[in-house]
Amino acid sequence: MSIRLELLPEEYRLGHLFIDSQHEILFQLFRELSEYCSNAEYALDLEIILGSLETYVDSHFRYEEGLMETSSYKDIDAHRELHHVLEKQVVEKIKKFNALSDRDDLVGFAREMQEFLSKWLQDHIAETDRKFCHTLQ
Ligand SMILES: [Fe+2]
Repeated sequence: MSIRLELLPEEYRLGHLFIDSQHEILFQLFRELSEYCSNAEYALDLEIILGSLETYVDSHFRYEEGLMETSSYKDIDAHRELHHVLEKQVVEKIKKFNALSDRDDLVGFAREMQEFLSKWLQDHIAETDRKFCHTLQ
């Protein structure tokens, strides 16, 4: 999976190089899920996508929170709580995936994950993270 910052749509770019690069990874996972839904046979395995997401949330959220601490961001507690909710949701999704028994369920699950990441991009990145990044400029 290569990282190309220019692939992150304009509306999700927040003007912070490292944060934008990390958000690009989430966007790439979203695209991997789309590919899985259109042709699961040639797509990246769902287990790999979920494993990448699990690693991503931990390192990305800790990075953002570290930046909030060093910049004395006033809304850090509320933002950290939203990260906590997203992390719990990722854990729940992984549990759900591990409990799937029928192969036919996998595409439905990939669609559900796409909706989840889409909401994450729109609600958290385009709004909550944007508010924080504005304070860094
Ligand atoms: Fe965030």
